[in-house]
Amino acid sequence: MWNSEREVEAALKGTGYLATRSIAQTVFLASRLQKPILAEGPAGVGKTALALALAEMTGRRLIRLQCYEGLDEARALYEWDYHKQLLRLQFDEGKQWGEVEGNIFGEEFLLARPLLESIRSPEPVVLLVDEVDRIEMETEALLLEVLDSFQVTIPELGTITAQSTPLVVLTSNNTRELSEALKRRCLYLHIDYPTPQREHEILAARVPGLPEQLGASIAAVVASIRDLPLRKAPSVSETIDWARSLIALGLDEVGGDDAGSTMNVLLKYREDLDTVERELKL
Ligand SMILES: Nc1ncnc2c1ncn2[C@@H]1O[C@H](COP(=O)(O)OP(=O)(O)OP(=O)(O)O)[C@@H](O)[C@H]1O
Ligand SMILES: [Mg+2]
Repeated sequence: MWNSEREVEAALKGTGYLATRSIAQTVFLASRLQKPILAEGPAGVGKTALALALAEMTGRRLIRLQCYEGLDEARALYEWDYHKQLLRLQFDEGKQWGEVEGNIFGEEFLLARPLLESIRSPEPVVLLVDEVDRIEMETEALLLEVLDSFQVTIPELGTITAQSTPLVVLTSNNTRELSEALKRRCLYLHIDYPTPQREHEILAARVPGLPEQLGASIAAVVASIRDLPLRKAPSVSETIDWARSLIALGLDEVGGDDAGSTMNVLLKYREDLDTVERELKL
């Protein structure tokens, strides 16, 4: 697909996603080794955005499995379409079970959920398994077969193998340890907060009309805010929101009372607002 990590970097940039060297290299290796990427890091640093950018730059469809506590096989992999099966049974009334069974456990009675859908898709897709740390450890097992051999086994039907290898991105906020089994199947990618210079570039890519000097100051202030002991450091998405807010209010510098009063766009805890006010005197 790509011949070097530089090509990956350029393609990502074309979608407005600015990759560090380690991001570009991991994507390149993932495509070469046909392995899933496990992107981990704090909130709002571009983990989910990476999968969206991959879909955009390859022109592939994005299939997303949003993880949550209690996610089960029926929502992640597949379930049988009981209503359709019942209708079929009514048609088959009077027939032997052996015959009926073959009729109702065919692919047409299967409701494919994201994992199976990504395997069955005739065109290659990007599969995003978002916030995988939210599912219980036991549920991770559902992912393993898909992640290491791009296949799904359905007891009544047999094994369905991918027609084309999906590009797979899993994201995690590291709210709990993931299993060794899951980690072993993936290329691990740690994404951290960007440097001020990189964050300025991200702002330039994401916030049209942002004056150069304002962008640089925003990135510098956000970097110093992240150095403070906060309950929740501002994420890149919050930096973007802050830049948009300053523009919307017609402000062109980050100092002064007006800008200080917009800190609630960056910070989401009362204590953090107090800390920043005390330490930075904006
Ligand atoms: N490297 C980057 N290049 C361009 N935009 C970025 C980059 N990193 C983050 N962003 C921007 O920040 C926003 C937030 O990123 P994203 O939603 O991917 O965060 P996340 O890491 O998935 O966070 P969470 O853990 O809260 O889901 C994106 O919409 C994107 O616009
Ligand atoms: Mg996300």
